[in-house]
Amino acid sequence: MTEQMNASCCQDHGHMRELDAYIDELAQQGSMDGKLIAILHRAQEIIGYLPKEVQIHIARRLSLPPAKVFGVVSFYSYFSMVPRGKFVIDVCMGTACFVIGADKVLDEFKNLLGIEAGQTTPDRLFSLNALRCVGACGLAPVISVNGKMYGKVTPKDVSKIIEEYKGGAGE
Ligand code: FES
Repeated sequence: MTEQMNASCCQDHGHMRELDAYIDELAQQGSMDGKLIAILHRAQEIIGYLPKEVQIHIARRLSLPPAKVFGVVSFYSYFSMVPRGKFVIDVCMGTACFVIGADKVLDEFKNLLGIEAGQTTPDRLFSLNALRCVGACGLAPVISVNGKMYGKVTPKDVSKIIEEYKGGAGE
């Protein structure tokens, strides 16, 4: 039976119903062993991030200790515990990108946005992430904004990319 969540974090309880329906669907397919990551992915897709209350709810549904769920969420940089910005900037820090200056590109984003990797600007416009190889090494250093890829990026390009989205071009 679906355990309903009393989540103060989620104003839209429809989101939690959707998540519960997904968990129920997986449960009908058999054992829930090894399904935690899939559920966290789905939860982040639905809600946009993974607040503590949602992690506790998932832990309860899977009969797991909440610490186990927190551990997985903190380990993978893909998962976010804070609301994401309208534009999510992912900077690849895989080896091919790193050796030709991805760290300097990331530093420039940090400087211009005034946030660290894993954070969101106070106006909720941008989130910044550092990722492992995104599979486009031939274009290194690679960044993406809401999935739109930019290759051979240098620190000089960073302000132009930010302005492009501030100006609404990404909408
Ligand atoms: S290392 Fe950056 S795309 Fe592969």
